[in-house]
Amino acid sequence: MTIRVGIVGATGYAGEALFDILLRHPSAAITGVYSRSGDRRAFSELFPRFKGRTGVICSPLDVKKIVNDSDAVFLSLPHTVSMELVPHLVKAGKKVIDLSADYRLRDPAVYRRFYKIKHKDAGNIKRAVYGLPELYRAKIKTAGLIANPGCYPTAAILALFPLLALGAAEHSPLIIDAKSGASGAGKNPSGDMMFSEVHDDFRAYKVNCHQHAPEITQELTRVSGKKTGVIFVPHLLPLTRGILETIYLRSLPGQKRSTGSLVTLYKKFYKTEPFVRIKDAGSFPRLKETAGTNFCDIGIQADGADIIVISAIDNLIKGAAGQAVQNFNIMYGFPETTALL
Ligand SMILES: NC(=O)c1ccc[n+]([C@@H]2O[C@H](COP(=O)([O-])OP(=O)(O)OC[C@H]3O[C@@H](n4cnc5c(N)ncnc54)[C@H](OP(=O)(O)O)[C@@H]3O)[C@@H](O)[C@H]2O)c1
Repeated sequence: MTIRVGIVGATGYAGEALFDILLRHPSAAITGVYSRSGDRRAFSELFPRFKGRTGVICSPLDVKKIVNDSDAVFLSLPHTVSMELVPHLVKAGKKVIDLSADYRLRDPAVYRRFYKIKHKDAGNIKRAVYGLPELYRAKIKTAGLIANPGCYPTAAILALFPLLALGAAEHSPLIIDAKSGASGAGKNPSGDMMFSEVHDDFRAYKVNCHQHAPEITQELTRVSGKKTGVIFVPHLLPLTRGILETIYLRSLPGQKRSTGSLVTLYKKFYKTEPFVRIKDAGSFPRLKETAGTNFCDIGIQADGADIIVISAIDNLIKGAAGQAVQNFNIMYGFPETTALL
């Protein structure tokens, strides 16, 4: 079976990563790529690394064409743009994997507060499945609309899922000290993302008010069954790609944990997950070891009541395009690792 796939927003960072992965997918044929700036130019002209590997032409964003040319559609658009398209695609019976934040938050009021705009397609929020396979694999199998998780939330939720799901640590406060490379902000040029501003610098931004905080809270609250309190501070690394998060939490009163016991717990918990790797005691994730892969690496250290969990992903792969293809594989019943290992 070959699935015709369209990539909307293909000229962006995550769109290009999607193209790269899907080109290698034995059961996907890229039948359309869409954007504003790349209109009617060969994709291999826009991205010479694909020369000799594809003849696909970039089209303007035309819903009718997308519907006609695709069975499944990856939306790699900025938030607020996705929700203009999704209702048409869902109505036409297409399977949609949306990489933006438009369908991740269950409560439209929270969306409005953090994204500064009223949601225009609240009806489809209920239909969307949060596309974190490690949590929602069963629901993803039958979903028509996937809200692909944010990059920071992917690393945070996977790091905390075992402890909170098993009730093995305090659910609040969860202190998340996060760092990302500059590609996390997308391709849109802005003064403070210029090379000369990012290079040789390291800074915090959106301190405890980043739009990914409610997404992390929402999912960890569901996992733990208790309202979690998240303190989330993102930082900008002078690197192109990668996310590393150092997370601090406490064990339950009277329950002191050892590093060894937690490493064992995590290894058992994620034993069957193809894309979560747990480090041995005393060893911790490095961005270099996850770059270009769909893996989330996790390291754990416990000292009395203090627990530290460190996770790393490639923001463009497990944090975006790789996870989107992982969801695609699950939706169509392909081996989950297809085109991702
Ligand atoms: N970057 C990451 O690490 C990451 C991780 C997880 C999720 N995401 C999410 O994935 C989505 C894409 O991110 P990105 O980093 O790839 O962004 P990006 O580099 O800025 O790319 C955005 C894409 O959308 C297109 N686009 C922008 N505005 C449009 C409009 N009004 N109408 C039609 N097309 C438009 C752009 O094409 P033009 O050439 O026409 O401008 C480009 O192809 C975002 O929602 C982002 O939040 C990104």
